[in-house]
Amino acid sequence: MANYDVIIIGSGPGGYVCAIRCAQLGLKVACVEGRETLGGTCLNVGCIPSKALLHASHMLHEAEHNFAAMGLKGKSPSVDWKQMMAYKEKTIGQNTSGIEFLFKKNKVDWLKGWASIPEAGKVKVGDDVHETKNIIIASGSEPASLPGVEVDEKVVVTSTGALELGKVPKKLVVIGAGVIGLELGSVYARLGSEVTVVEFLDVVTPGMDAEIQKTFQRTLKKQGLTFVMGAAVQKTEAMKTKAKVTYKLRKDDSEHVIDADVVLVATGRKPYTEGLGLDTVGIKMTERGQIAVNGKWETNVPGIYAIGDVIEGPMLAHKAEDEGMAAAEQVAGKHGHVNYGVIPGVIYTHPEVANVGATEEELKEQGRDYKVGKFSFMGNGRAKANFAGDGFVKILADKDTDRILGAHIIGPAAGDLIHEICVAMEFGASAEDLAMTCHAHPTYSEAVREAALACGDGPIHM
Ligand code: FAD
Ligand code: NAI
Repeated sequence: MANYDVIIIGSGPGGYVCAIRCAQLGLKVACVEGRETLGGTCLNVGCIPSKALLHASHMLHEAEHNFAAMGLKGKSPSVDWKQMMAYKEKTIGQNTSGIEFLFKKNKVDWLKGWASIPEAGKVKVGDDVHETKNIIIASGSEPASLPGVEVDEKVVVTSTGALELGKVPKKLVVIGAGVIGLELGSVYARLGSEVTVVEFLDVVTPGMDAEIQKTFQRTLKKQGLTFVMGAAVQKTEAMKTKAKVTYKLRKDDSEHVIDADVVLVATGRKPYTEGLGLDTVGIKMTERGQIAVNGKWETNVPGIYAIGDVIEGPMLAHKAEDEGMAAAEQVAGKHGHVNYGVIPGVIYTHPEVANVGATEEELKEQGRDYKVGKFSFMGNGRAKANFAGDGFVKILADKDTDRILGAHIIGPAAGDLIHEICVAMEFGASAEDLAMTCHAHPTYSEAVREAALACGDGPIHM
């Protein structure tokens, strides 16, 4: 079989980006993928299909709620579910075939099938054993299971099943108020489902800035989602087309049952390493089932690296991509680097939620002296014109040095606005640096500048 410099296992955002960068750096590279199409969880059953449905359902929401006020009259559109699914599938296809094109362009061999590692320096795909100087594992993640909950991907579904339901359910129960639960919950709420979110904790999106959590939950409630907080799900019982969800309220241990047409289980994801034969090669794992790596993405076995969802850190496509590029550089003898302090997180609901760096709670815990600059989108002309005045930008900066330590945005285009702050943080900028940068008018970005001004002498439009 062919000899390679690098074989990458998995073609998700970690694997495919790593493969392309390895090729660009002059290495002979192959990428193994067992799915029918390239792109991993993200392109096939994750980021891309969910964003297509978020976009379509947001358009419907705009037509139903804001068109008339702008003088756009007429019958509001109704949902053609089959066509919406076709649009989603087409979007997936365009993206996955795009990766196939990039592989050909960069001379990356796609080895089709499921890989295992019989020993360091060898990758087995089907009956073929390929020799390689380096192996990079980018095998991603899968939904975590929940005791008492059996997924059939029809009535009790993970995100994968929720992205291809036969019809819009009348009643959807979502277990878990994390990113998947709230993104897909808001899709179905906009499409007309009665959505109830059952969450173990007392807050949504654990780990986020508390002020954002409160505003976000309030906003989603206004959009029609119902929340049952502090509730531990005990079990689900699926009938042919219906299900029951039993949960206990943590405050008084009382047991409750709710009916659903569909139950979405969104209680986290876990690393996927099945069939790789990691035991055989003696690869060390963490207590949480992740592949253990050092700062250069090397496992304990020389010549074997790991990146993306299968190692520690946030399970995000762009984190996997950055590790993919950096690991490629390491393998090519360069010095790949990822700044884990500046990885943005975005929730693509409407309004969007975005964050980077420390939360206010983390700064308090660290005992840091900090200041807060906040600005509401109500004071932003563009947002008001676009019926998007809900939400705010919050910048946290060091009290003495004014250096930006974190930022949290809920509002229009938050997922794009956050990058201005990411760049500023990469360059070690102060809030004043942002505040003194001219921002075009009228743009949502002005709200970021105003929040930066609020860290100093004060915003203008508040
Ligand atoms: P994956 O994308 O999981 O890819 C791993 C690939 O490896 C898979 O295709 C798998 O088939 C293949 N593989 C595994 N084992 C083998 C083997 N032995 N042989 C051959 N192939 C193998 N993140 C964001 O940043 N933004 C979002 O908007 C977002 N939305 C999401 C929405 C949903 C519904 C879900 C589920 C996830 C979402 N994520 C999002 C998370 C994102 O999808 C993951 O963080 C990202 O895909 C991780 O990339 P990866 O390369 O590590 O692994
Ligand atoms: P998550 O970790 O974001 O949220 C899981 C939620 O379930 C938590 O709020 C948790 O408290 C709750 N929970 C756990 N056990 C429970 C129980 N027994 N009963 C009730 N609630 C319970 O996980 P999620 O939403 O499944 O997403 C998985 C991963 O996918 C995340 O790590 C995320 O980073 C990634 N993702 C990213 C997206 C984005 O960047 N926009 C979109 C979708 C997924």
